[in-house]
Amino acid sequence: MESALQNALASLSGQLDFQAPEMRSMIAAFHEQMERGLRGEPSSLKMLPTFTDNPSGREKGDILALDLGGTNFRVLRVRLTGDGREPGITGGKFKLATEHVARTGEELFGAIARFIRQFMEAQGLRGTYPLGFTFSFPIRQQALRRGELIVWTKGWTASGVEGRDVVALLELALEKQGVAGVRVVSLNNDTTGTQVARAYFDPACDAGCILGTGTNVCYRESVSRLGEAPLGYNREAMIINMESGNFNQKLPRHRHDAALDACSENPGAQWEEKMVGGRYLGELVRLAAADWIGRGLLFGGRRPGPLSERDLWSSEAVSALLAAPPDEAPARLAGLGVPGAGPDDAAAVREIGRLFVRRAARIAAAVLSATMTRIDPGLERAHTVAVDGSLFEKMPGFRAFMAEAFSGLFGVRADRIAPVLTHDGSGLGAAIIAAAAEAENIA
Ligand code: BGC
Repeated sequence: MESALQNALASLSGQLDFQAPEMRSMIAAFHEQMERGLRGEPSSLKMLPTFTDNPSGREKGDILALDLGGTNFRVLRVRLTGDGREPGITGGKFKLATEHVARTGEELFGAIARFIRQFMEAQGLRGTYPLGFTFSFPIRQQALRRGELIVWTKGWTASGVEGRDVVALLELALEKQGVAGVRVVSLNNDTTGTQVARAYFDPACDAGCILGTGTNVCYRESVSRLGEAPLGYNREAMIINMESGNFNQKLPRHRHDAALDACSENPGAQWEEKMVGGRYLGELVRLAAADWIGRGLLFGGRRPGPLSERDLWSSEAVSALLAAPPDEAPARLAGLGVPGAGPDDAAAVREIGRLFVRRAARIAAAVLSATMTRIDPGLERAHTVAVDGSLFEKMPGFRAFMAEAFSGLFGVRADRIAPVLTHDGSGLGAAIIAAAAEAENIA
């Protein structure tokens, strides 16, 4: 490899490094922002009450769940027995098109209601079913079944939804579609759903985390530590949705982060998410590669399509390239639409990907470390963190980088934080939350 390219890689590695001392200052800032958010003071962490606590594991019923907030939208029927047995889950996955997420709320909720109707017809469901609604965006809840969308994230822009109660919008759409057999009984974020799904079987689970298209963490907090007591809620602990993707202090930011933010739908917001989330990782790698292409360091100055244009390089491409053995990287790049890469070009693009993935995993680990040390400052006991999302599940190296970061921070106590894949937990969690709400309404 030419020395100019080698030097560029070494310098990028330094810029994207994030070691235990810097993580510790980020963790301190995170704790401070948590406190402020809980007191209702201005903070980059929204610290949103969810009106939900961990389940008892005895919740039961025949429940519907909606899971909205990623590329796919899911409708599930969940049968919970409440006696430790695996829930029976049948479900349909529907792909949302750009017009659903980017035009009007009416079109979005209209499409959802149509899918629900189709699902119920296909399953032959008659009668009335309680429904739990996972909505994977920041919602300000005033009650378990009421919450306004604060602001769209992850590039969604459907108009007429921000500031509105999403349960009311769903109910209205269901009514218009003539779907009578559904009662929306609860609303939750995907992090909360994921935590609840795992905690149903595992009482040591006290946090939920998404590392996918977007990123966020929730955890179990004592109600006495909230600035304001949530009206009508009488349990001692509540899950708090931090909206940690919006955290913006002491992050190892690079000029490519600033460039990405400036071109995004929501400049100035979701800084942590823009350094970690799968929606952005590909573009960060592309920005770095395009910079070097422009400086003649890569591809002999040629401008290979997907690496030269905004948003054409996805985190899936980064993942595919990292999964290929190094000597197959040029062929893998060609398969990804970048033909004619020499071994050095391919090795460098691969390494850029690895460096951004390493940084993302370390930031994610720092956020979880801050969360767990808030709950248990000395890590005296074992904690499960329920995690879902494609980065955690599939990105080569991601989990190992996280584990390394925990070790660097906590030494032998690192294994007190156990992130566990809770695949598709948010739909199941929504059903469990709805079942708990039903039981409480009947009691
Ligand atoms: C949203 C969160 C969500 C996360 C993961 C973020 O963009 O603001 O509410 O939990 O994505 O889906």
